[in-house]
Amino acid sequence: MKTFSIGVFAGDGIGPEVIGQAIRVLEAVQDQQGGFQLEMTHLPWGAEHWVETGRLVPPDFLDVLGGFDAILFGALGDPARVPDHLTLEPLILIRQTFDQYACVRPAQLFAGVSGPLADKRPEDIDLVVLRENSEGEYVTSGGRFRTGRPDEIALQTAVHTRRGIERILRFGFDLALTRRQQLTMVTKSNAQRYGFVLWDEVLEEVRPSYPTVEVDKQHVDAAAMNMVRTPERFDVMVASNLFGDILSEIGGGIVGGLGLVPSANINPERKYPSMFEPVHGSAPDIVGQGIANPVGAVLSAAMMLEWLELEDAAAPIRAAVQKALSQGAGTRDIGGELSTVEMTDLIIQNL
Ligand code: NAI
Ligand code: MG
Repeated sequence: MKTFSIGVFAGDGIGPEVIGQAIRVLEAVQDQQGGFQLEMTHLPWGAEHWVETGRLVPPDFLDVLGGFDAILFGALGDPARVPDHLTLEPLILIRQTFDQYACVRPAQLFAGVSGPLADKRPEDIDLVVLRENSEGEYVTSGGRFRTGRPDEIALQTAVHTRRGIERILRFGFDLALTRRQQLTMVTKSNAQRYGFVLWDEVLEEVRPSYPTVEVDKQHVDAAAMNMVRTPERFDVMVASNLFGDILSEIGGGIVGGLGLVPSANINPERKYPSMFEPVHGSAPDIVGQGIANPVGAVLSAAMMLEWLELEDAAAPIRAAVQKALSQGAGTRDIGGELSTVEMTDLIIQNL
């Protein structure tokens, strides 16, 4: 029996609601298939912990998380109780400490879901935004001078390293080899002539190792428009931290919304645990109503199984989600009437 330890950090808002449902699906697959065992440890961190201790997570939380084979994460954020600029700090520390430099965000239009783009069918939208997750524009580097004065200056510096660019491009090429063998690198090298010109140069060095992959380069402004106009042109899109953040949000938007899209924060070397989470936040506006869409969390759990090399368990989950949606079923955010639990019931029935 293969056994895996999973740290479940469900967090705030709808995080526990959707992660609870993802776990139901995981348990259903585990019971059906046998052969593997997921040992879940629930970590009661987030806003409640903040109210009790003045911290979102205990001081040793990274040591605790480092011991698991994988982390299943819900969402953080409770703006009524926790200052929102502090909310995502634990999440960023996890990504950086565990060197989860590859953030994989697939966006696929499922049959039965009407996305916002007219005339686009499921075969037209099936892409992955691969976001560089460890450096780029989100490195805290800079400062503010003459604070509060009319001549105040703020500097915010992006950091792009040859090693960082090369490893994310290689991850993107390897991913493309498992898909339609197309890679689009997204930069803005016509305007940012140091960092993104380095991206251009590294791409030229790496691409000969992947002769079967068709390579395209686009500037981020054009890519943003093309994702809306001609999403069928994209398979794997590799982008820096900031650009990948924004483009993956467009990806979620064009396939029907944030409730549907999963993500994985991967440490490809498997030196540290990787983390799997729905793209959405804690959605305080709908918390406790039982209407959150569980699909993003369920598909994130499937990505976790894939990463644990349990593809035979992941594939049925993806298929069950697609089948449930293709029956026209869904939660309110995608125009359906089902509750969070009813939608999950339907996914489990389709397993
Ligand atoms: P959000 O993603 O929580 O919600 C945006 C909108 O989408 C809301 O109207 C919400 O109801 C809807 N929505 C999101 N997920 C849904 C689901 N599964 N089913 C149905 N509808 C869904 O983003 P927002 O409102 O900007 O942020 C809320 C809180 O979450 C803030 O505290 C923010 O800092 C935090 N946040 C946390 C993230 C994380 O933990 N990874 C990511 C983004 C925001
Ligand atoms: Mg975002």
